[in-house]
Amino acid sequence: MSYRSLILGCGSYLPALVLTNEDLASRIDTSDEWIRERTGITQRHIAAKGELTSDLAVAAARDALGKVGMSGNDLDLIVCATSTPDHTFPATATRVQAQLGMTRGAAFDVQAVCSGFVYALSVADNFIRCGQARTALVVGAETFSRILDWNDRTTCVLFGDGAGAVLLQACEETASGNQRGILSTHIYSDGRHHDALYVDGGPSSTQTAGFLRMQGREVFRHAVVKMADAIDAALEKNGLQPGDVDWLVPHQANIRIIESMAKRLDLPRERVVVTVDKHANTSAASIPLALAEATADGRIKQGDLVLLEAMGGGFTWGSAVVRW
Ligand code: ACO
Repeated sequence: MSYRSLILGCGSYLPALVLTNEDLASRIDTSDEWIRERTGITQRHIAAKGELTSDLAVAAARDALGKVGMSGNDLDLIVCATSTPDHTFPATATRVQAQLGMTRGAAFDVQAVCSGFVYALSVADNFIRCGQARTALVVGAETFSRILDWNDRTTCVLFGDGAGAVLLQACEETASGNQRGILSTHIYSDGRHHDALYVDGGPSSTQTAGFLRMQGREVFRHAVVKMADAIDAALEKNGLQPGDVDWLVPHQANIRIIESMAKRLDLPRERVVVTVDKHANTSAASIPLALAEATADGRIKQGDLVLLEAMGGGFTWGSAVVRW
């Protein structure tokens, strides 16, 4: 018997504190106008002191579980995508597991920075496809505010904190053409680009957490090309044309990158889910946060074809196609 992964529901959590562009402009040499024009961002959420990545992840997971009437012990697997774990080890996913009251199965982290959610979705989908898990929680959770150099205006204005979660369940593959579920995932990396986007600390190098460093233009240049390649691979694998896509749910880094992907697919702006204005770049949390918003407000409906794409440090990048 062969299986595919059905997405049962989504959840989200954003910390209460909102930091606007004006707030930032009162602390560093920047302006609301510069940030909005270059990135589309107007505000971001920031985790409270003592509020950890696992707390954000648990809140998003509970939201998702509550919406579908499930509990932690219904899960076989938790895959947590994060680059800002609570601790070097154990995995943040195991803290989420404990707090959800899940006492069986497995929980682990996946680290692919801003592509983390697509990577984690791909891993969980493969577990389900090969019959090793029946019900999985995929959560993207980040507290990037903790690894930002708040004196570096070229990076600190771009990111925010948050978490999003999706619940997957195995369903039997049928011959039907329009079967729901995850149709494909594609993930890629190229480690030669390490220095374009990295954190200058870590347990093995400096024994400190470090700060995010980025060559913005270099990242922008690669993002547009690599995400376009991942989109092409996704469409080709499923025999789809750009016009078949109902919703593009991209990683939310920069409105200009998002618009160039939409243009490539010839998708009107209203068919693209955009949250970067309110959330900024929440790394691995950005796609599930956007999915949670667009399913809760009724934009994404059962049967819609949804295309996800992301790119992040490493470089890592990828795409996924879901019949909702
Ligand atoms: N406020 C005001 N001025 C600023 C700021 C700021 N926050 N940051 C930089 N500047 C200045 C620079 O100092 C520079 O000044 P100069 O011309 O006097 O030297 C000027 O603005 C232009 O700087 P650039 O870096 O060339 O600006 P650019 O148009 O490339 O925009 C940005 C920068 C927004 C970072 C863009 O390159 C970008 O979005 N890159 C993609 C990065 C990204 O999205 N990373 C997220 C992780 S990866 C991912 O998720 C895809």
